[in-house]
Amino acid sequence: MTSLNSDSANLGYRHPHLLGIEGLSAQEISFLLDLSGDYAKLDPRSHSYERLLDAHTVINLFFETSTRTRTSFELAAKRLGAEVINMSVAWSSIKKGETLIDTAMTLTAMHPDVLVVRHPDSGAVKLLSEKVDCAVINGGDGSHEHPTQALLDALTIRRRRGRLEGLTVAICGDVMHSRVARSNIHLLTTMGAKVRVIAPPTLLPSGVESLGVTAYFDMREGLRDVDIVMMLRLQTERMQGSYVPSIREYFHFYGLDREKLGLAKPDALVMHPGPMNRGVEIDSELADDIDRSVIREQVEMGVAVRMACLDVLTRPLRPSPEGA
Ligand code: NCD
Repeated sequence: MTSLNSDSANLGYRHPHLLGIEGLSAQEISFLLDLSGDYAKLDPRSHSYERLLDAHTVINLFFETSTRTRTSFELAAKRLGAEVINMSVAWSSIKKGETLIDTAMTLTAMHPDVLVVRHPDSGAVKLLSEKVDCAVINGGDGSHEHPTQALLDALTIRRRRGRLEGLTVAICGDVMHSRVARSNIHLLTTMGAKVRVIAPPTLLPSGVESLGVTAYFDMREGLRDVDIVMMLRLQTERMQGSYVPSIREYFHFYGLDREKLGLAKPDALVMHPGPMNRGVEIDSELADDIDRSVIREQVEMGVAVRMACLDVLTRPLRPSPEGA
């Protein structure tokens, strides 16, 4: 097992940033999950963490609102001993590029060790990573990627099922606008899981099958015999115009309730990245059912995953023995 604070020469993740899951190998993903799993075993009340990030500064730079992702990164960084600065930037679409680069320049002058960035535009975090000289973690860029969410989802599944390979996972709802869906598709297919996406035609990106998934418009058909049901929030803030006829109709066809869940495997787990629209994409009582829903555990794993990512990205990158 990967040990906490293991020598950087053994580092299984050798990128300067974490911008997405796409392009990571199964070995790199496993390395991050193993290390996250080790962090998850530590007791948060015992204060026994090694202060790996003493004298380090982490800046949370959020151009979009967030509750759990931002607080989760903050907690993770503080548990490792870092100084944390939270910056929320009001986003005016008029000055886009300029504001982003200006902000990057200002922050570079403060010499942070890690920047955690959330931005409403796909690709903006990568652009920013090219302008700063510290590690950058993508906390969600537009409808593109949200890598730490996919890692915490995978860690939750692995703890419950012991593996990812061979499982069938249904990702249901607003796939079109979801960075969570995209990062999960990359991670789960790379790790050998079978992925189904279930959505109304208006919320399914065309050509989604090219990502290695099977697409369903009929939720009942798509849920048949799956191991995991991952629900997505309806991202109304990213919708221009009307994508669903009415909330009532959406819940009827695409909301998860006990009747539809009954088509999945009897022990299928229910997941949701939050924030949930209860009664829109998921039945409220089902979301709170601790026998089926692992939504709380997802939040808990979020802190462990972010500790692992901060740990890995602040270790010096030494050349690998093979590459030397
Ligand atoms: C997700 C996000 O922001 O992309 N939430 C999160 O990170 N907890 C999903 C969502 O907003 O629907």
